[in-house]
Amino acid sequence: MLSIKKVIMSAMPKVGLFVLVASFATAISADNSQQQVQLAQLTDGFDAEATYMMSCFACHSTGAAGAPKVGPGNAEAWAPRVEKGMDAVVANAINGLNTMPPKGLCFTCTDEDLAALVQYMVSSSQ
Ligand code: HEC
Repeated sequence: MLSIKKVIMSAMPKVGLFVLVASFATAISADNSQQQVQLAQLTDGFDAEATYMMSCFACHSTGAAGAPKVGPGNAEAWAPRVEKGMDAVVANAINGLNTMPPKGLCFTCTDEDLAALVQYMVSSSQ
């Protein structure tokens, strides 16, 4: 005769496996919906804020290596740069400037994407 304990013990690995499979399935569907969101953003146009967070934030939020800081209250960091014209500022973002790496390390960004990023950085630093 099987004791209750033995039944529970023999059922445990199956329950564990079920939980594992169930959480794996949840993880996969969460991943899918994230991809769908990203695709939606791509088809709706370039997401400057998300790309800024991925590629530029590391240096431009802290001012690392002398990067002009982005965010409210940093207008004076950008004023002298914008003075030479937005085209020149965008060109520097595309080609790099001193320790600012070309394309800000966003190698999938087009020139238009970088122009949108620079616009985003300047306008969110007022
Ligand atoms: C590795 C650090 C680093 C990363 C990553 C980075 N930057 Fe910079 N960035 C700098 C530094 C440093 C400067 C200041 C360069 C100087 O004036 O000598 C700068 C300057 C700039 C300027 C001002 C150019 C000008 O004409 O004065 C723009 C615009 C800019 N970055 C855009 C971006 C964008 C857009 C990204 C992301 C796609 C990015 N940066 C990512 C370090 C970085």
